[in-house]
Amino acid sequence: MLIFADTADTKLLAELNETGLIDGVTTNPTLIAKSGRVIAEVIKEIAEMIDGPISAEVTATDYKQMIAEGEKLAAIASNIVIKVPLTVDGLKATKAFSEQGLMTNVTLCFSVPQALLAAKAGATFVSPFVGRLEDQGADGIQLLHDIRTVYDQYDFDTEILAASLRNSAHVAQAAIAGADCATLPPAVFNELFKHPLTDKGLEIFMADWAKTGQSIL
Ligand code: G3P
Repeated sequence: MLIFADTADTKLLAELNETGLIDGVTTNPTLIAKSGRVIAEVIKEIAEMIDGPISAEVTATDYKQMIAEGEKLAAIASNIVIKVPLTVDGLKATKAFSEQGLMTNVTLCFSVPQALLAAKAGATFVSPFVGRLEDQGADGIQLLHDIRTVYDQYDFDTEILAASLRNSAHVAQAAIAGADCATLPPAVFNELFKHPLTDKGLEIFMADWAKTGQSIL
């Protein structure tokens, strides 16, 4: 499963990238607003920092404008993925981008029929929002399993990009469900390294090692 960072904070991203474990980045209008920066500048900086797919979202809601915005975003760098909302116009634009050979990420997916349409439109990625479904009392992880089943059944190439993941249990469950990628806020990514037994075990090893008086170097 590829791991993407869900952030437009380039300082935080640079720190995460030092681990060598970040495969791509996703952004959205909320994250760009939070960065307080101009979208083209942030996206360019991110695309230069990370080799993998970088999702940059259109903000238009009508087809024509989406096409114009998407083409402008895609021109920033060759690894840009045009992110479009799962609407009629969004899927029309997805189909047009896909015919032009441009990568797309269809976002705000909350159901199997929506995911099916995104795949039929030729989306490179589809982003089901796990946490936001759970906020409504629905089962976001089951949605990932169901989309996996449908995509495999019909041999769709669209990659499932699990989004709105809020904790490491979500990440584990997304991997078990067979998501191709998971996008994580920096805090969730950092949480993945942690387990109390790792800390405890390391403490014991270090204490025992100190007793030997040895040094490897
Ligand atoms: O990638 C989508 C993600 O940013 C949404 O997460 O936690 O705002 O539902 P959240």
